[in-house]
Amino acid sequence: MSPGQLREAIGAAPRVRFATLPTALEDYPLVAEAAGLPRLLVKRDDQAGLAFGGSKVRIFEFVLGQALSRGADVLVTGGGAAQSNHARVCAAAARRAGIDSVVLLRGPRPDSVTGNLLITELIGADIHWMATDPTMLDRYALVAGLRRITAELARAGRTPFLLESSVHPAGVLGYLDEAAELAEQLDALGIDRATVVIPSLGAGVVGLTWGAQLLGRDWDVHGLAWSTIPEDLDARLRQLATDAIALVDLDVPANPGSVSILGDTTSPYAVPSPATWAAMELAAMRGGLLLDPVYTGRGFAGMLAEYRSGRLARERPIVFVHTGGLPALFARDELSDGRWPAANTAASGTAA
Ligand SMILES: Cc1ncc(COP(=O)(O)O)c(C=O)c1O
Repeated sequence: MSPGQLREAIGAAPRVRFATLPTALEDYPLVAEAAGLPRLLVKRDDQAGLAFGGSKVRIFEFVLGQALSRGADVLVTGGGAAQSNHARVCAAAARRAGIDSVVLLRGPRPDSVTGNLLITELIGADIHWMATDPTMLDRYALVAGLRRITAELARAGRTPFLLESSVHPAGVLGYLDEAAELAEQLDALGIDRATVVIPSLGAGVVGLTWGAQLLGRDWDVHGLAWSTIPEDLDARLRQLATDAIALVDLDVPANPGSVSILGDTTSPYAVPSPATWAAMELAAMRGGLLLDPVYTGRGFAGMLAEYRSGRLARERPIVFVHTGGLPALFARDELSDGRWPAANTAASGTAA
């Protein structure tokens, strides 16, 4: 199908428009040269607008569409950490649509309020802090807490819309839309074969993989890990794809939820490795391109390692989807004990 036909099919789903789209597709020849890549194109979802942007802005257009069509007056969601991008964009998107938000974050509240948390507080989300209980798996504790908050809001006469996880089927529609954008942008550049990578273990890689199939594009799509891989990832992604398929009238993907995940799958979440800091420095120093330490910096480092090991096609241009997350740059001290950049640069040798 054509990008226009894909857009039309997605158009059947309720949506509230506030993202700055299409996001730019920019060429970074100096970064590519320094990193030894054939060509590097960066899809600038970090500039998708709304409170420091990021790919989640796309996702929340469809989430808000669903929420408002059900008469919701408050979004309820949870984020893993104080530096949650999901919580920030949820809070901003709710305000933009004229409703409230409640977010549950893993406590305690840090003494210094910076980065994403600063923005989420400024926007006036009702933030609840979850006491972390080592005897309970965090995910279960988070979901239990979210359901309790949602029930309380309903008892108080509100109409809450609950997102139990940052991974929501409506988000897949946002990335199908991104696939349509990318197809048109690559056509304009005369590029028909490409490697498309995105820091994602969820809606991003599912949506782009499905989008490439629907559009009949010769793209190698890979998710780049931003945490260790959960054991049930395949099952979760299959469920995500199945739930997304129910939202639109489109051909079902060949293997729903079957995606390629590459990159650094061994480091825990939000613990940047020296390779992450080095990749951030490379992009910043050679291209003025800012990456964040949790998702895009780690993803970029993973992409470079995979290219060097020969797992990415040698000659294909690489499209790196910059999913955002930049407010976390200002929380550097939470993520690196204040040692970066000096100590990490020294530890990792040259940035290139
Ligand atoms: C900046 C950024 N990039 C990537 C991701 C991962 O997205 P996905 O849910 O597709 O794995 C997130 C999710 O929190 C994010 O905030």
